[in-house]
Amino acid sequence: MTLVTPAPQGASSLARAFPTGFRFGVATAAYQIEGASNRDGRGDAIWDAFARIPGAVVGGEDGSRACEHYDRYRDDVALMRELGVDTYRFSTSWARVQPDGRTANAQGLDFYSRLVDELLAAGITPWLTLYHWDLPQALEEAGGWPARDTAYRFRDYALAVHDVLGDRIEHWTTLNEPWCSAFLGYLSGEHAPGRQEPQASLDAAHHLLLGHGLTIQALRERDAALKLGVTLNMTVPDPVDPSHPGDVDAARRIDAQHNRLFIDPIVRGAYPSDLIDDLTALELSLPVEEGDLAIIGSPIEALGINYYHGGALSDQPDPSAGLSTAAPSERPKLSPFPAAEGVHWHSRQLPTTAMGWEVQPEGLTRLLNRVHTDYTKDAGIELYVTENGAAYTDVVEADGSVNDVERAAFLEAHLAAVLDAIDAGTPVHGYFYWSLMDNYEWAWGYDKRFGLVRVDYETQERTIKASGMRYRQIIADRAIAA
Ligand code: NOJ
Repeated sequence: MTLVTPAPQGASSLARAFPTGFRFGVATAAYQIEGASNRDGRGDAIWDAFARIPGAVVGGEDGSRACEHYDRYRDDVALMRELGVDTYRFSTSWARVQPDGRTANAQGLDFYSRLVDELLAAGITPWLTLYHWDLPQALEEAGGWPARDTAYRFRDYALAVHDVLGDRIEHWTTLNEPWCSAFLGYLSGEHAPGRQEPQASLDAAHHLLLGHGLTIQALRERDAALKLGVTLNMTVPDPVDPSHPGDVDAARRIDAQHNRLFIDPIVRGAYPSDLIDDLTALELSLPVEEGDLAIIGSPIEALGINYYHGGALSDQPDPSAGLSTAAPSERPKLSPFPAAEGVHWHSRQLPTTAMGWEVQPEGLTRLLNRVHTDYTKDAGIELYVTENGAAYTDVVEADGSVNDVERAAFLEAHLAAVLDAIDAGTPVHGYFYWSLMDNYEWAWGYDKRFGLVRVDYETQERTIKASGMRYRQIIADRAIAA
């Protein structure tokens, strides 16, 4: 267990210091950075297939080249050293490890072995995510996440990764943002595999959770000392008018399907009853079999929260344009919220990022406090912010520098929000900025840049942006300005 003790009294009374033991990291994901999509035996992932569908991804872009991290990983680890991060959150590509979703590929595994060695030599702790959205296409063709067998395939894949990396990695995350895998992948159709089937999306949600639980049990059995967890994208749903029952219910529905559908079974071993009622009214259900919830609720050590923004919800349409965060790809999309049909996201006229997402750092404080109080405190689970970051339209100056003041301010405001939660009594153990470098932003292609490091996709040159320099200073000081 990492000890988080009160912050040392800083040299400057104007600084707000982070607690001893607090991790400062950056995050990436395999499909978004690696490229080399058909090298050394890698099979197709669902994103390779999805990106080939005309109109599915803005500009028809795919991850075949991305940031060429597969070949440039040493440079990228050197960049992390330069930033001073102590932990690196990355994912393994299932289709590289098991090209057909079943058979281990030694060459693919060897890449991750080299990467982990490089990180350890640089003094950076590897924090591994097993599933960041790149299901082998062969398993999608066998039914994908809506098929129960995929959960068992996922556990076996995790064990294949553990066979090779288990001696050097302590921190293991099963899933990244299962809400997106289930509902953007199988309902709205905005993400791979692009299916639009309400019942299948709920089947996928349950089987993702089952895969999580089976993997936790299997890894625990292998090695009781591992730090195991999951990463959830949670939001902060506020009613537009707290005195209007329709708005309160709209916020409840989003909270149920976006947040509690995942965190409740994982931490409490039960699905929320109000969500089950909402789904039953729509003749939808979760395909729970005897014993599943006990598996899903297997104890974990770490809960990662990915926080980007909250939302103001109503049962009435927004008289202004409202908020749309869906990628402008050309295929028709459905709402990813079957249990919240008729719910509207209202604009609060806050500043927004290039994704159209509201900049709302105080939401992060409220979210962390809530998760601690309602879930992790009594379960003895450590809380981390495993993603937070912003896309902005960067301008490259004549000398090649990027003075991204908005991103630097976003970073600092959200770190301040983390400190606000810590001050309120919520032990937060670390923060990972999304992302180390600009990369493939899924259905948006390369258009949206989240990096602390600029990537020139023509030359593959990397340049640390002003935000990266700011993060480096914060990490060196272990403090932000008060
Ligand atoms: C969540 C995802 O985990 C990551 O892959 C994505 O790029 C960022 N958020 C930004 O949308």
